[in-house]
Amino acid sequence: MKFEFYNPTHLIFGAGTLSQLGEIAQKHGKKVLIVTGGGSVKRSGVFDRAVASLKSAGVAVAECTDIEPNPRITSVARGADIARKEGCDVVIAIGGGSTMDASKMIAAATLYDGDPWNLIGHGQDNWVIPTRALPIITVPTLAATGSEMNKGAVISNDESKVKSFVQANCLFPKVALVDPELTLTVPKDQTAYGVCDIITHVTEGYFSGIDGTPIQDRFAEGVIISAIEWGQKAVADGSDIEARTQVQWASVVALNGWVQAGTNYAPPVHMIEHALSAHHNITHGAGLAVLNPAYMRFVAKARPDRFAQFARRIFGLSGVDKDDLTLAMAGIDKFEDFLRSIGCPTRLSEFGIDDALFSQYAEDAVLVVHDENGHLPGRPPLSKADIVTVLKSAL
Ligand SMILES: [Fe+2]
Repeated sequence: MKFEFYNPTHLIFGAGTLSQLGEIAQKHGKKVLIVTGGGSVKRSGVFDRAVASLKSAGVAVAECTDIEPNPRITSVARGADIARKEGCDVVIAIGGGSTMDASKMIAAATLYDGDPWNLIGHGQDNWVIPTRALPIITVPTLAATGSEMNKGAVISNDESKVKSFVQANCLFPKVALVDPELTLTVPKDQTAYGVCDIITHVTEGYFSGIDGTPIQDRFAEGVIISAIEWGQKAVADGSDIEARTQVQWASVVALNGWVQAGTNYAPPVHMIEHALSAHHNITHGAGLAVLNPAYMRFVAKARPDRFAQFARRIFGLSGVDKDDLTLAMAGIDKFEDFLRSIGCPTRLSEFGIDDALFSQYAEDAVLVVHDENGHLPGRPPLSKADIVTVLKSAL
């Protein structure tokens, strides 16, 4: 293992912490742009509570509403225009992963004169990695993407149907204000998709990372086991604050870089899912629920010992009288059973998606990230034909 770890985000975690928003924001600026999604934060009263806290701390407020799921670059440009016109010096995201990712890019695009799509890496020649952004504060209302405490953002281009991502140090939020109470009203299906997203962030590194990372393996297994245990409880009873708290914490640690540190992490399942949701606008976590087991079955053949370890340690399956591959497949079946038990889809047909565009999804996935052979990085790296094989097995 040889690595660096850097994460400067100040994390404030716990039920009721939303009331601290004003006091935190006034340390970073005088006028905030609050970025929100489809309106649930207004219906739930969270928005009003946030504004009250800001105003009582003497912080002025402007608004950018209606960030869509799978946020678009056009929304980023719109948000940046508002921030400039209103003279905002801080961006606060109140919402799920889409809102947080859009907010990060609004914060960067506000200080960038060119086309904001240049700031998103998508295989283009004129990629400009952001180096400046307004201070960002994240207030997640959904436990899923982990965007609250990392430097990544995933943005879609509706014209080109490309969904891509950027990672840059200036996109680390200054503060992540993580209040699990804000997730109490998340519906069952979105709760389940969030749990799947959390687990997939961890399995990506677990299955595509290097050998010889025993401590990271145990971190990863702890997060997966806990997300399964508390995720089931949060889906069964959305008002269970203890379950919501543990799932929210799992979301943070699953993708703030700590579990992946030193593993040489690659996210092939995410790359394939992004291609799929760019074309079909499906919920990210639901797409992952379909793709991850299919991906695991494909790559387990190349690395059965790793997947046998997953079966033993996550699901307590016994390897007695079984070869590694048989045990590996039994573990993946168990994982898929779990996803189905919390209400996740596990087949593309459940979205009404057929094989018509499989080659296109494979092209799009490797366009965004590829190695010197044009393969999607992972272990093993996937050719376009491999990606199509994975997709076919998920029909
Ligand atoms: Fe994700």
